[in-house]
Amino acid sequence: MIKFENVCKEYKANKTIVNGLLDINLEIQQGEFLAITGRSGAGKSTFLNLIGGLDQITRGKYYFQDKLLKQDSKSLARFRYENIGIIVQNYALINYKKVFDNIALPLVYKRKNIKEINEIVHRWAEYLEIKDKLNCFPNQLSGGECQRVAIARALCKNPSILLADEPTGALDYENKKIVLNILKELNQDGITILLSTHDYDMAKKTNRIITIETGQIINDSKI
Ligand SMILES: Nc1ncnc2c1ncn2[C@@H]1O[C@H](COP(=O)(O)OP(=O)(O)OP(=O)(O)O)[C@@H](O)[C@H]1O
Ligand SMILES: [Mg+2]
Repeated sequence: MIKFENVCKEYKANKTIVNGLLDINLEIQQGEFLAITGRSGAGKSTFLNLIGGLDQITRGKYYFQDKLLKQDSKSLARFRYENIGIIVQNYALINYKKVFDNIALPLVYKRKNIKEINEIVHRWAEYLEIKDKLNCFPNQLSGGECQRVAIARALCKNPSILLADEPTGALDYENKKIVLNILKELNQDGITILLSTHDYDMAKKTNRIITIETGQIINDSKI
């Protein structure tokens, strides 16, 4: 499904070049549940951002479903729109919008009609047990609830790949377990899931762990 060939990502910061990722070669099959681990600054978010087409690779090739994915911003935007659901670090909910409107955001971009939006938002809110919160604002929710809203928002456009950057980073043990179970269930339903985590116990619950150190893969093991 995904193939990286000698992928490098360089950032320019204060006229110096920082290596985000260096010569990454790997393949990810449809239906995998994969964890990216590594220390802070290792390159986990960079990796997810390139997979999700949120950022352009500097060198190398990215094939998606055997086709070369062009790295111009228009091609990447289209790729994201059609294939990718993203749960970003710290939820990134819009505080002045109600939960319903936060979840509905990708559907509004997709120009779905009100009836469809209503149906889809309610379906995911029910699945994630936040239906009674649809009329609340994000600052009226707990951290675990915010994370579930972010998951609902990522899922409502029906992505084939779900990317989650530290999805349980700010959660307590109980909420971690809930979110992990949701991700597992979604994976069993066929969604390819890639998550980054510092938490090795969380990584062990997936089917494949990739460890990154200073922009390079130092371990890739299937469980
Ligand atoms: N926009 C940017 N400009 C310059 N350097 C960057 C930028 N984004 C990331 N980097 C650098 O690239 C490297 C990898 O960063 P990245 O955010 O991928 O790490 P990470 O593994 O996700 O860390 P964390 O666990 O803290 O989230 C770091 O050295 C970081 O400083
Ligand atoms: Mg990160």
